[in-house]
Parts: sequence; structure tokens; C-alpha cells
Amino acid sequence: QEQNRELRVRLEQLKKERNAIILAHYYQRDEIQEVADFRGDSFLLAQKAAETDAEVIVFCGVHFMGESAKILAPGKTVIIPDERAGCPMADMVNVEGLRKLKAEHPNAKVVTYINSSAEIKAETDICCTSANAVRVIESLDAEEIIWVPDKNLGQYVQDQTGKKMIIWEGYCNTHDMLTVKDVVEMRAKYPEAEFVVHPECRPEVVAMGDFVGSTTAILEYCRKSDRKQFIVGTEDGTGYQLRKDSPDKEFFFATKFLVCPNMKVNNLKKLVKCLETMKPQIYVPPAVADKARTSLERMLQVR
Ligand code: 13P
Ligand code: SF4
Repeated sequence: QEQNRELRVRLEQLKKERNAIILAHYYQRDEIQEVADFRGDSFLLAQKAAETDAEVIVFCGVHFMGESAKILAPGKTVIIPDERAGCPMADMVNVEGLRKLKAEHPNAKVVTYINSSAEIKAETDICCTSANAVRVIESLDAEEIIWVPDKNLGQYVQDQTGKKMIIWEGYCNTHDMLTVKDVVEMRAKYPEAEFVVHPECRPEVVAMGDFVGSTTAILEYCRKSDRKQFIVGTEDGTGYQLRKDSPDKEFFFATKFLVCPNMKVNNLKKLVKCLETMKPQIYVPPAVADKARTSLERMLQVR
């Protein structure tokens, strides 16, 4: 506790010295969310990175998020607490595989979930997040759509829009762990609770949702709902904002496995250290960044 207090004081000093802003994803540890200037899902954080006046962006999330920030704000220095915080789903698609698929479907438009590398974004027509995926697909005038890398979100979006999509076989190791059996058991235990679920979960689990939505959409739904209990089908870090928004409500995570180990690699100590040393920094080769930026900026324009 005492150590954390000292770290927080040091952090405030460093933030001023460096003219830095701290952005934290809702899946970060509480000790990071507590000190962040702005908390958000991947869409809101990308938007914030694009808009900020700060010279330094400290991105507390996983690697692709820091990369997206750097691409959208190429003049800024983007640092992250630990470069080992990656996203296994982002690593499930590679450039060669995507180019091959594009060659097989030359008329298709490529829609890429923001959970992907800069190189993949550079091969993409438009990016999306779970918050705007349906709207992005609906905005496209295309006979065929190639979707990478999340098969679960892809399936959900296809069902919602009725558009035919060629879906890559990636998935999120964390959300994909949640099973129908887990939800059935939780419902038996908490019959009054509503089940809210992220579309990165398996389709059969998503189908059980009383509400399906991105992290921000789930937060908003729970905040506004009259219900007092919720079974939550997304990453456990969201508990911080859920409980902050509604201290009178109860939130039960649908399994104890809904924890993204990559998100938890970051902690307060590493956050302070990265601002002290200004390392590790995110670097994206300009030629890749320029192409990737177009697909991210198109995404930000879809309302
Ligand atoms: P959102 O932040 O878009 O809800 O995405 C969830 C996620 O898995 C981020 O890694
Ligand atoms: Fe990647 Fe899933 Fe972790 Fe998000 S929760 S960073 S999609 S592994």
C-alpha cells in the first residue's frame, strides 16, 4: 500500500515532466485503471490517442493497441509498460496467409479487427473494433468480405448483418474459454441475474446472452439496467469500471478463467518505470504505418 502510494506520487511528477497521458484498457489491473487519465475499450482509446495534445502516450493494454496509437499519432512518443504484453489472437493471422486469401478473392474488401498487427492493418481496407463492427460491415458496398482474425466476432457480425463473409480462424484464448455449461451453472446459481456477453465468446455462448456487446456497450447496459445482478461474459478487469459505475449492483464473472494473462503483464511499478526510462517505445516502419493509418482512420469515421 505504502509502496503504491509512493509510486503514484512519482507517476504524477513524471507525467508532468514528460507531458504524458496515460491510457488504460478496461482489462488492465485495478492499480493501473486507478491512475489512468482515460479508461476505455479499444475503440475509445484509439480515438483518444488520435486526439490528444500530450507529447507522450503511455499505453496500458496490449501491443497492438500501442501500435494503433502510434499509427494514429505518428508525431507522438508511445511507450508501454512491458513489451511482452501481446495478443495471441493478433498473432493468429500472418501477412502471407492474408495475401493468399486476397489473391483468391480479388474483389473482396478486407475488414480487420483492431486486434491485429500493423502489417495486417496495412493489407486492410477498413478496421473495426467490437464496438462498431456491425456498422463497419454495413457501411461497405462489397460483394465479398474477408474478415480477420476473430472467427467468433466474425460469426456474430455475419449473423447480425446477413452479409456473406470469408472468416479467418483466429480467436481470443480468454473469451473462447467460456462454455455453455459455465453459463448454465451460473444461471442456476444466480437466477435473478442477467447474462451480458462479449461477441469474442463462442457463438453458442453469445446466443445465450441477455445482452451482447463490446466492453463499453456492456458497461453502459449494466449502468442503465434496473437489474441488480449480472453474470459477466468478458474479461475480469471490467469489474473495476462496472463496480465503480454501480456500487449497489453485483457482478459475477461467468468463470474464473476470464482473465487475459497478457493484459495483466502490466502493473503500476512497470508503468512508472517506463515513464522514467521512456522505454520500451513503439516503433512502426513509416511505410507500414502510412498504409495502416488509412484503414484505422476509415474505422474512426464510421458512426
Ligand atoms: P474491446 O476493447 O473492443 O471491447 O475488445 C476486447 C478485447 O479483447 C481487447 O483486447
Ligand atoms: Fe487478445 Fe483476448 Fe487478451 Fe483481448 S482479451 S488482448 S483479444 S487475448
